[in-house]
Amino acid sequence: MKICPSVEEIRATVAGFRQVGESVGLVTTMGALHEGHLSLMRRAREGHDRVVATIFVNPTQFGEVADLAHYPSDDARDIDLLQDEGVDALFLPTVETIYPPGDETIVETIELANKLHGKVRPGHFRGVATVVARLFNICQPDAAYFGEKDYQQLQVIKRMVRDLHFPLEVVGVATVREADGLAMSSRNVRLTPEDRTAAVVLNQSLSAAEALVADGTTVDALKSEIRSIIRSEPRAVLRAVDVVAAESLDAIDGPVTEKIAIMLSAEFGSVLLIDQREITP
Ligand code: PAF
Repeated sequence: MKICPSVEEIRATVAGFRQVGESVGLVTTMGALHEGHLSLMRRAREGHDRVVATIFVNPTQFGEVADLAHYPSDDARDIDLLQDEGVDALFLPTVETIYPPGDETIVETIELANKLHGKVRPGHFRGVATVVARLFNICQPDAAYFGEKDYQQLQVIKRMVRDLHFPLEVVGVATVREADGLAMSSRNVRLTPEDRTAAVVLNQSLSAAEALVADGTTVDALKSEIRSIIRSEPRAVLRAVDVVAAESLDAIDGPVTEKIAIMLSAEFGSVLLIDQREITP
């Protein structure tokens, strides 16, 4: 695996792939790799001759400095995992490479970024869109793979790519779960053993919601079922239950008749977890 710290090196590497007619799939990450990331690498491999990964802990998407400081980071371990996965090239830039001194350009999907999780994390999706636009422009892949778990992030990136005419496809990949159903996340390592066990309630509530939609239900009934399941777990502090139209993320009400996304967030101790499910009635 070629490790490229500079824009010039990753561009030259990708150009080399293209010169011999090879297609490139990209997986952007902030490191702390887990099975969820590796499943994105495998999907990229299925569709492309070459897989390029990025590791960059993006400061502009963290609201609180403390959150950034606590973000787990172990480049040596991540590099080993990527090598084992057969990734062809890794872009591993510094903050100054991505945000050069005097930098003042941002990218923002104004509506999509400022609803739902965007309301409680102001600036977060602006930071995500800004860094992903830069990574796309630097790496110039044919397609980029993102987990459906970060559902709003996926919709923000799809909209940005459409609006800015980036010549690439954005592929959403189903959430990878632990054996008990907990969605894989870099944050899971920060859960206490008791909170780790309790956190399975998120997936349980989503499965119950899916069954309700299959039988025909309303948005209010869905929300109240999810709330009551999560509140039955004393270690969970429910932060949000949103039922929205799948792509616009607009709030809906009444009977569920269109494809919806349910987006949850809850705290377990000091760790905020999210989970989601897209459901077609
Ligand atoms: O999902 C992530 O890990 C990050 O938000 C991303 C897309 C790599 C941008 O920093």
